[in-house]
Amino acid sequence: MATVENFIAGLNKALEWEYAAAVQYVQHAAVITGPEYDAISKELVVHANEELAHAITVAEAISDLGGIPSIEVEKRDIAKDAVTMLEQDLAGEEHAVRMYKGLIRIAEELQEYGIRRILEDILIQEEEHRRDLLSSLGR
Ligand SMILES: [Fe+2]
Ligand SMILES: [Fe+2]
Repeated sequence: MATVENFIAGLNKALEWEYAAAVQYVQHAAVITGPEYDAISKELVVHANEELAHAITVAEAISDLGGIPSIEVEKRDIAKDAVTMLEQDLAGEEHAVRMYKGLIRIAEELQEYGIRRILEDILIQEEEHRRDLLSSLGR
């Protein structure tokens, strides 16, 4: 059975992944230069800003629940070639989608409907990010 403590711990893990995603997108956007990647680079900057916005929102939710938001950063991935970078970003988004679905289930169980809605809004953006990356990879 879910507890507020479990929920805070899960949200803090999500926060650490959001920081990592923002850092990874900043790095990839800067490195993935070249005419064919110009539009994709701009898209990665948009993603970086959205991941930071997610981090701010999740940190506020943690604080509202009585927790202390983490300042740890999860694992980042970098690569030398563009396709590997985009694959790394896609893997991150697939992880984020799974993570938020789990957190939404816990919010529901705890009847934290306000936070559930905030998490659903983040999930919608993670799914958009995943679609953007699939399209950038030509899938
Ligand atoms: Fe995010
Ligand atoms: Fe994302």
